[in-house]
Amino acid sequence: MRLLAIETSCDETAVAVVSKKNGVESSLVASQIHLHQPFGGVVPEVACRAHQEWLPRLVKQSLSDTGITPAEIDGIAVTRGPGLIGALLVGLSFARGLAWGWQKPWVGINHLEGHIASLDLSDPPFDPPYVALLASGGHTDFFHVDPDWHIRFLGGTLDDAAGEAFDKVAHLLQLGYPGGPVIEKAAGNHHGPIHDFPIPMSGHRGCNISFSGLKTAVALAVEKEGNAIRNGQAAYWAASFQRCVIMALVKKLEAAADMVGCSRVAIVGGVAANRLLRDTVASLAEKHGWEVGVAPMKYCGDNAAMIGVAALRHLEQRGWSSPDLDADPRLFLGEE
Ligand code: KG4
Ligand code: ZN
Repeated sequence: MRLLAIETSCDETAVAVVSKKNGVESSLVASQIHLHQPFGGVVPEVACRAHQEWLPRLVKQSLSDTGITPAEIDGIAVTRGPGLIGALLVGLSFARGLAWGWQKPWVGINHLEGHIASLDLSDPPFDPPYVALLASGGHTDFFHVDPDWHIRFLGGTLDDAAGEAFDKVAHLLQLGYPGGPVIEKAAGNHHGPIHDFPIPMSGHRGCNISFSGLKTAVALAVEKEGNAIRNGQAAYWAASFQRCVIMALVKKLEAAADMVGCSRVAIVGGVAANRLLRDTVASLAEKHGWEVGVAPMKYCGDNAAMIGVAALRHLEQRGWSSPDLDADPRLFLGEE
């Protein structure tokens, strides 16, 4: 089984070819960061236009890079949600055209399931059962995945997602976009004491989480200190904020693992690229005797390889999608 996979849920245009036999044969990602940078966040119309422009180019390139012909592809996998509706529709319409033109079946994939499936791409693959933290620009969710790939939602973001908080605080500190990598870099330049922000929702049971209070606390603290940025204090605030977010995430990961009595835990999504998060989870693993799975660095952010491997699993259990498959910007993942 070999699939051509397409991902356009937000601001990365991505195409991959994956097969059961060879794994990832091609994975191309056209980043739109430079297009959205001037606005400090993703502009949906700009994203849609860039997806339209890039999709045909990337498909052509992945076929020519691999020497694979359409005849050697068994079907198309495409992200159908959650995400920006316009961006999803561009990907879905393109996939529909390709499936029709090449006379292939297609399968719609949940973007979040794709992020979880990025654990199949670690070496060696990290197999369920596990509790997974999915931390990205739009989600901070905890899932339990059982060996049959049944996924249960355990709790998650009540408002801002972790990545979104990184993006907004980076904007506030005038560090640039996207926020995660620039805050991580600025924090790395800070040595010495940091500001102790209260860890969000640490007094609450369960694994629901919220970052909007922390975001406001950072904004107020920065304002109170006068012009913190002009005073060269951005690194201090970046380090303080980053520590607080990571502590909140790992506390809730502990709560999620406790909740289902599972000692296998995993981190996936754009924020899983964060070094402090990876290191903190590794040290907790020693403390709790956890086995830990971490998405490979290059598959933390949005990509189509993860959509392809999720589709390979999906097809074994649920088969191809019907021709009238539609995009769903609020697509839910899990059985509650
Ligand atoms: O998974 P992803 O590429 O897209 C979504 O599905 O949202 O995640 C993007 C998010 C952005 O908010 C970005 O700031 C964050 O992941 N991110 C990071 C890091 N790299 C990317 N957050 C913290 N530390 C990082 N190193
Ligand atoms: Zn994502």
